[in-house]
Amino acid sequence: MKTEYDVVIIGAGASGLMCAAQAGKRGRRVIVLDQAPKPGRKILISGGGRCNFTNRRVSAQNYISSNPHFVKSALSRYRPQDFIDLVRQYGIRFTEREHGQLFCTGSAGQILDMLLAECRSAGVCLAFKISITGIERQGSSSRGFRICTARESIEASSLVIATGGLSMPAAGATPFGYKVAGQFGIPVVEPRPGLVPFTFQSGDKAVLAPLAGISVKARVRTGSASFKEQLLFTHRGLSGPVILQASSFWQPGARLTIDLFPDGNLGDLLETLRQTRPKRHLKSVLAEHLPTRLVQARIDEKLLNCPIHTLSRQGLERVIDEIHAWKIQPGGTEGYRTAEVTVGGIDCRRFSSKTMESQDVPGLYAIGEVLDVTGWLGGYNFQWAWSSAWAAGQVV
Ligand code: FDA
Repeated sequence: MKTEYDVVIIGAGASGLMCAAQAGKRGRRVIVLDQAPKPGRKILISGGGRCNFTNRRVSAQNYISSNPHFVKSALSRYRPQDFIDLVRQYGIRFTEREHGQLFCTGSAGQILDMLLAECRSAGVCLAFKISITGIERQGSSSRGFRICTARESIEASSLVIATGGLSMPAAGATPFGYKVAGQFGIPVVEPRPGLVPFTFQSGDKAVLAPLAGISVKARVRTGSASFKEQLLFTHRGLSGPVILQASSFWQPGARLTIDLFPDGNLGDLLETLRQTRPKRHLKSVLAEHLPTRLVQARIDEKLLNCPIHTLSRQGLERVIDEIHAWKIQPGGTEGYRTAEVTVGGIDCRRFSSKTMESQDVPGLYAIGEVLDVTGWLGGYNFQWAWSSAWAAGQVV
């Protein structure tokens, strides 16, 4: 059986549904195909079930890409405020958390329901449990495509790849988009897990695993990236927002530099106390600022039990270094099983930043996370999904 549409979108996630609604509103005949039984699985599990759907302050600096300018056009034409207006139109209540992050007050399901309502009112067809067996060009010079599924073949002038990245296979992630790129000779920037916890090397694990459950504010540096937020010790490694942020910039084998007292200056503090309260023990001074178990794991027991006036200059510097510049080399990351995003993806240097259309294959578009665009933690990934989808939706 053969059917015809103007636009076939593969992937009924955040970007696919947004693009479908936009194209449908323009009178295009649109079908969205997904292998999953239901749409928007990642929307439903996002933000702890409350979907951090955007951020008040979004700029190109919040994204990692081998083409750092690529996001600018789409983000400036469909802004966080445009999505906020849509959310308000549907009466969805939301809350602003720190760093401008916007979350649903109710549930993430409201965002998915909104996108599905947009698709319905734009006359979009949605098809689930679809296994795509092949994609063919309709003649090398034309814009058309034939998408073959186990049930039928669908012809369309525009084909949009919206299949996301590799993170969380359990939520339906597949390498489909990268395979399509490969089929058309479009390069893919080596993907790796991002926004993901680190695991300890075995030597560190013995010392640090007992700290599981401790959470402290920290500054974490890797390469030229630096973030200050909460750090959480787990049984297997390091997690928490500051670690997730750093993980997207981390290269295997690299060390992290962690400041466990980022809002204070331990050097100044100890210097003052040496003058004013010299008999205080280092342990009790540090206990006022950091969890005791963490201090004991970082600093030699002998030093901790010293009155601060007896600490040598060298000992003092060692303590300051252990707290302000702890160096640790992670064993690795928890991988795609728990990563929130994929860093890397289809090389956007081969796509128009205005329309998301391939420069090599006219009529082929890629949107959302399948592209080599990765946002920081904080609603930036959804905003990229909305903005890139909106841009393609105006032209497909
Ligand atoms: P998305 O992954 O949403 O959709 C891809 C779709 O393609 C899926 O429906 C999938 O089934 C389908 N598909 C895949 N392979 C296919 C194939 N072979 N054939 C047909 N269909 C196929 N971001 C953020 O900004 N704020 C947040 O709060 C969170 N929270 C969060 C929590 C968790 C646990 C995860 C895993 C991720 C987040 N994210 C996030 C990231 C965010 O979910 C992600 O960046 C967007 O969903 C990406 O949207 P896409 O449309 O590109 O892919």
